[in-house]
Amino acid sequence: MFSVELFQSNLKTKLIGKKIIYYASTKSTNSDVWDLYHKGENEGLVVIANDQTKGRGRGKKKWITTKELGLACSILIKQKFNLEKNGLHAILIPIGIILGIKNMYDIPISIKWPNDLYYENKKLGGILIESKYNSSNSIYNIGFGINVNESINDFPKNIKNYSTSLKIVTGEKIQRELLLANILNCIDKNLCDIKESFIIKEWMKYCNHINSEILIKQNGGKIKGIFKKINQRGQAIINKNGQNIIFDGPILNI
Ligand code: BTN
Repeated sequence: MFSVELFQSNLKTKLIGKKIIYYASTKSTNSDVWDLYHKGENEGLVVIANDQTKGRGRGKKKWITTKELGLACSILIKQKFNLEKNGLHAILIPIGIILGIKNMYDIPISIKWPNDLYYENKKLGGILIESKYNSSNSIYNIGFGINVNESINDFPKNIKNYSTSLKIVTGEKIQRELLLANILNCIDKNLCDIKESFIIKEWMKYCNHINSEILIKQNGGKIKGIFKKINQRGQAIINKNGQNIIFDGPILNI
């Protein structure tokens, strides 16, 4: 069970959590957020699930949430940056998650472009940001999944070798309600008082592949380059044979 009461009593947010909806089981909290948005819900909505049966990842991948053990949450926010800087939405969220976790456990979590969360080359969490545009601004549906209390055998065989959880890393069973409240408190702070240079600096600090060779898809082919940094718009700068390429797709491998 996930206690919404305990979660809510630890939430200290201005924006996120204006309405909280909890499902014992659902297909996907991101899909729920869209359904609720179309029924009139607005900025600040939070959807939490104790189990997800059709969790969605980036690039049409699946996301597995282990019932009772993982965290699956989606939030609805309005556009916070100008359109040309909308890449910064994706940069801000992993920082909030890392700082929220660090409030409880000082462990070295890193980011893989654009916003996968890793501990020592094993995936700890992922973020799926979806958006809808209207004439005046955009609305963002930000879903994140974190492996929290899973033991290694709780992960399906195909991802076991590449996955880890906070419990595996810290050796402690973690109160998911407290963890989620800490994370949303940090995301909310970053959203309500946006400091672009802080977000970019923090992202670069936690990124695990600055100045490393990476493989990306471009113009139908695959190219290798050195991941240099992110720019003021939240896009990646990749150096290929001395030339900088601006990039906002996924990395294929490192
Ligand atoms: C990825 O790493 O590819 C992103 C995974 C995002 C998973 C979360 S879990 C909560 C929310 N609901 C979904 O269906 N997906 C996101």
